[in-house]
Amino acid sequence: MGYPFEVTKKGHDNVSTLPSYIVSELTDAYLETENRFVWDGKKFYWNDLEAGHLEIDFFSKKMRYRMQHINKAQEPLLRALGWKSTEQKSVLDMTAGLGRDACMLFFAGFNVTMFERNPILQLLLANALSELPSEDFSQQFILEKEDSIVYLRRMIELNLAAPFADAIYMDPMYPERKKSALVKKELRIIRNLVGADLDSESLLLMAIESGVPRVVVKRPKGATFVADKRPNHSVESPNTRFDVYLNHPL
Ligand SMILES: C[S@@+](CC[C@H](N)C(=O)[O-])C[C@H]1O[C@@H](n2cnc3c(N)ncnc32)[C@H](O)[C@@H]1O
Repeated sequence: MGYPFEVTKKGHDNVSTLPSYIVSELTDAYLETENRFVWDGKKFYWNDLEAGHLEIDFFSKKMRYRMQHINKAQEPLLRALGWKSTEQKSVLDMTAGLGRDACMLFFAGFNVTMFERNPILQLLLANALSELPSEDFSQQFILEKEDSIVYLRRMIELNLAAPFADAIYMDPMYPERKKSALVKKELRIIRNLVGADLDSESLLLMAIESGVPRVVVKRPKGATFVADKRPNHSVESPNTRFDVYLNHPL
């Protein structure tokens, strides 16, 4: 049994171009009333019958525009992560979601490992990664299909002598404040898939305990600190705040 999957008429001719790992997770059947993956011959996406289509494309027009116009020295997330043009640092994105932030970090030169625990998003991310010409880049972009809290617990138990990454980044879903028809389509689909991340406190506390030198948490402007933990400093942008926690070596 796999996830419901619709191959449209145009998709039948070239379904074999989808990565075999992805096809092996799908079943070639669906109910008309059921949310499902779709392959239309060009695009692989999730069809949420209530909220619409969700596709992850790291080379979309929107993403290319964002990357071409980004001012790396000013970009709040890069500032929060201590980005420097001369260094190739590693960052663990503990909450990949649509991989937008992870992709920006990759194009800015970070070695990126992203974690996603939702199986639907995992397949969409894996498909987007399979389209990346990795030979064109010297840095790595990896997906771990795992709960990052489980990963961090394992790493903490190993009690390694040196930090296992330069930075940790997390952007958990926060509980919906009020039902609104204006919530962006993609956010609605993700909410339908993952709900709210009610364990973000544990994630932050473990990230800090892990000894990784820098932990950055994305929050909506004006939101409380995760786990009521005051950061060393914050980087603000019009709608968002990045809280920065520094783990100083003893
Ligand atoms: C708000 S979205 C992240 C959006 C992302 N920053 C982007 O740019 O697309 C949060 C995502 O983190 C995932 N997530 C939350 N906690 C997680 C955990 N402990 N391990 C793995 N994934 C997690 C959720 O499933 C959800 O897809």
